Amino acid sequence: MTAVPLSSLSLFPGTREQIIESRTRSYASWGRGTTLQEYLERDARTDNHEVSRNNKLMTWVLARRDSPGSLDFMCSCETYWREGLVRAGSSTDPNLKNKENEVEVVDCCAVASVFTPAINRGKGYARHMMRLLHWVVAPSHSLPKEFPAAWGTPPQRPSFIKNAAFSVLYSDVGPTFYHAGPSYDKEDGWKVVNPVSTIWSVSKAHELLSPIKNDALNWKWFDEDSINGAWKVDEAAMKEEMSKVPASGKTLFSYLPTKGVAGFQHHRLQQFWVKMNPKPIYWGISLASDSESTALDLSTFASWTLDFRPPTMNSLIITRLRSNREDFKKLLAQVVDFAKKHSIEEVEVWNLPSALEETAHSFGGKTIVRDEHLSSFKWYGHEKNEDVSWLYNEKFCWC
Ligand SMILES: CC(C)(COP(=O)(O)OP(=O)(O)OC[C@H]1O[C@@H](n2cnc3c(N)ncnc32)[C@H](O)[C@@H]1OP(=O)(O)O)[C@@H](O)C(=O)NCCC(=O)NCCS
Repeated sequence: MTAVPLSSLSLFPGTREQIIESRTRSYASWGRGTTLQEYLERDARTDNHEVSRNNKLMTWVLARRDSPGSLDFMCSCETYWREGLVRAGSSTDPNLKNKENEVEVVDCCAVASVFTPAINRGKGYARHMMRLLHWVVAPSHSLPKEFPAAWGTPPQRPSFIKNAAFSVLYSDVGPTFYHAGPSYDKEDGWKVVNPVSTIWSVSKAHELLSPIKNDALNWKWFDEDSINGAWKVDEAAMKEEMSKVPASGKTLFSYLPTKGVAGFQHHRLQQFWVKMNPKPIYWGISLASDSESTALDLSTFASWTLDFRPPTMNSLIITRLRSNREDFKKLLAQVVDFAKKHSIEEVEVWNLPSALEETAHSFGGKTIVRDEHLSSFKWYGHEKNEDVSWLYNEKFCWC
């Protein structure tokens, strides 16, 4: 099939039928040993999850302008709308309302499920779709003054779409595929930043950590319900921490774990971990403080998801981590012990703070640069990429 001229195509919010068609198409790549029915049921469950409800999850299709609702669309992708934090640095436009070093809650989005069916591949459709996506999520001040004439007229933006302060995606197709920006001739799209993981073999780490006796400590385990309370405390702690990062002139940004974002990590993989024996009931742990206060203290805290798809995957992936150097080995010992009890083979964490690396490595952890799930961001503020810094580039905000 020859490629259709890009000017005859545009980006549209998917109809219900197009959403189902888009999921049915991607089943071939991401079905992961499930039946098509199970795959569609998982996505239907996601539709009802807080992370997606109220138009937070949108499916977009690149389709012909003269038949936007056709099931014969070229390719598709999804955006998840979320909340994040931004702390403006010194290069922020002085006309903007955010003041230097003040932490502000912002709207932002995450891009997922970019998919072109095999018959349409290699014709520039996915790349064009990603270029157009900027035009429906970014604030107008961050877009070129004129929409490129070669692309026809700009895509229409549904009225409920908010302006994203930034967007993030996780590339499984290398570091350059998502460089496409909103301009015709500039590669100023998503930029890969720190796709770094530290990974432990559970059997080895368990052996090395076994001399650490933790049982007398006051650990709090979080189940499906109580972990929601933890995200709220974590959100407050992230705001506080961001406000205290020493000023470097850089603008800081992060996602927030609340509104279903962090919980989505284990919800998404439920169809696999329900088959584990014993079935996991805990999704996080914290060390209670010595103080008299009854308030939840997350100064030593880990949450996780379980990717249980043996024989290919059998991992506990830490989604959020907070610890000082001294308590980290105690926390790690608890997490590894939990993993061992569930016959998990590996524990992984993204972007371990450098202060914890030495301890991590002394208990068998290996730090690597991932060649998949490459964390990438597109900043829609006035600052240049080198003047912004992503805090908490961890698994909790993956999609
Ligand atoms: C990846 C995918 C979306 C590309 O779709 P497409 O419509 O064929 O992409 P385009 O034609 O717009 O390709 C744009 C560029 O990316 C390159 N590219 C395409 N697929 C690629 C891949 N898998 N890895 C790296 N680069 C790739 C193309 O060579 C092209 O480069 P060029 O402009 O220098 O020639 C499609 O192959 C697909 O759906 N794959 C399965 C699902 C998947 O992996 N999605 C991405 C998840 S992060």
